[in-house]
Amino acid sequence: MGLLRSLAMLLLFIWLTRVNRAQPVSSKSSARLLDALLQDYAYRAFVRPRTGITFDGTVPSNLTGIQISGMRLRTGSLKARGVPMYKEFSIPVGVVEQPYVERLVLVYQNLGNWSTVYYPLPGHMYLAPLLGLLAYDASNLSAKNLSELDILATGSPISIMFPDVKSVPDGSTAKCVWFDLHGLVNFSNLVSGNICSTFQQGHFSIVVESSAPSPTPVPSTLPMVPPPGGKKNKSKVWIIVGSVIGGFVVLVLLGLLVLWVQRYQRRKKMQQMEKATEVGEALHMTSVGNTKAPAATSNPDINAIQQVDIDIQNCTNRSDLTTRHSENDL
Ligand SMILES: *[C@@H]1O[C@H](CO)[C@@H](O)[C@H](O)[C@H]1NC(C)=O
Ligand SMILES: *[C@@H]1O[C@H](CO)[C@@H](O)[C@H](O)[C@H]1NC(C)=O
Ligand SMILES: *[C@@H]1O[C@H](CO)[C@@H](O)[C@H](O)[C@H]1NC(C)=O
Ligand SMILES: *[C@@H]1O[C@H](CO)[C@@H](O)[C@H](O)[C@H]1NC(C)=O
Ligand SMILES: *[C@@H]1O[C@H](CO)[C@@H](O)[C@H](O)[C@H]1NC(C)=O
Repeated sequence: MGLLRSLAMLLLFIWLTRVNRAQPVSSKSSARLLDALLQDYAYRAFVRPRTGITFDGTVPSNLTGIQISGMRLRTGSLKARGVPMYKEFSIPVGVVEQPYVERLVLVYQNLGNWSTVYYPLPGHMYLAPLLGLLAYDASNLSAKNLSELDILATGSPISIMFPDVKSVPDGSTAKCVWFDLHGLVNFSNLVSGNICSTFQQGHFSIVVESSAPSPTPVPSTLPMVPPPGGKKNKSKVWIIVGSVIGGFVVLVLLGLLVLWVQRYQRRKKMQQMEKATEVGEALHMTSVGNTKAPAATSNPDINAIQQVDIDIQNCTNRSDLTTRHSENDL
């Protein structure tokens, strides 16, 4: 009994740690991988870098439809003068970054027709492409996989003027949407017709709620999709789903096994008590037990015991199979 219980606990533990281990993999969403890739490609645009000038970059052909740019700035100049016009962004004075660097690069992204691929928003419809503004250290322009600097507007907010906003459907209200770098989504009201504002970096657009049911519900706090052509994430999802279901099946089978064993032991005890009282009957029973031959008997308990024996054997075989199966999984 104790062995079975600890085996069940061990399997539960393995199953739980597997689920936990899968978490960090999925939280590094494809959107963050895209940010890293676009940082690399935006930095490649700085051939003869000058500060305060917009350099348009080129994306790899598998991401056609996305536009990127980079602008290198001195931190002091950004804070004192801002950038009145950087694509659709208007950066006021008073923007500071954390941690401090001497020069930074503001990477601009226009995700175009890829907006819904990388930032799916169930129950909403984009009226404008998603625009991104992210800040990085400019000290090494061939660096890849840089982590973002935190930028914060300490005075007035950064404003974003969206061109070509689709018309708002009747009865709907347009909202600004902001995805921060941790996957958090926040909605706010438009400043005016096609302008949103923000105090921090991230990705921005204008959306309306759509009544159409979304085909694939995705937790809105963690926008992530398998990148197009990326089968790795899909198989990871199946591994997680498979191990969750497998874990449940193993636990249910173990529970049934425990119940069966308990019932068997209770009957055995009853049998022993009967043995003690009815000596004559007991002698007959042991001879039947030893030869294992089906014998006509007046005691219905014997048949029941043989039945339980078969049940236990079936059950042991089955749990052997599932145990071996989950070992293969690990
Ligand atoms: C697109 O191509 C680039 C360069 O070839 C590669 O690094 C990247 O992983 C690809 N991205 C997607 C989403 O396929
Ligand atoms: C976006 O449009 C470009 C052509 O402009 C196309 O090559 C690309 O496949 C489209 N992307 C998506 C996700 O539909
Ligand atoms: C800049 O980054 C690249 C790529 O990570 C690295 O190879 C190079 O040594 C770095 N240069 C400096 C000056 O740190
Ligand atoms: C990118 O940087 C993160 C830490 O910031 C690191 O965990 C990851 O392994 C790096 N990826 C590559 C491809 O260098
Ligand atoms: C999200 O937006 C609301 C206004 O709509 C604002 O009050 C709140 O502070 C925002 N949350 C964050 C984390 O910025």
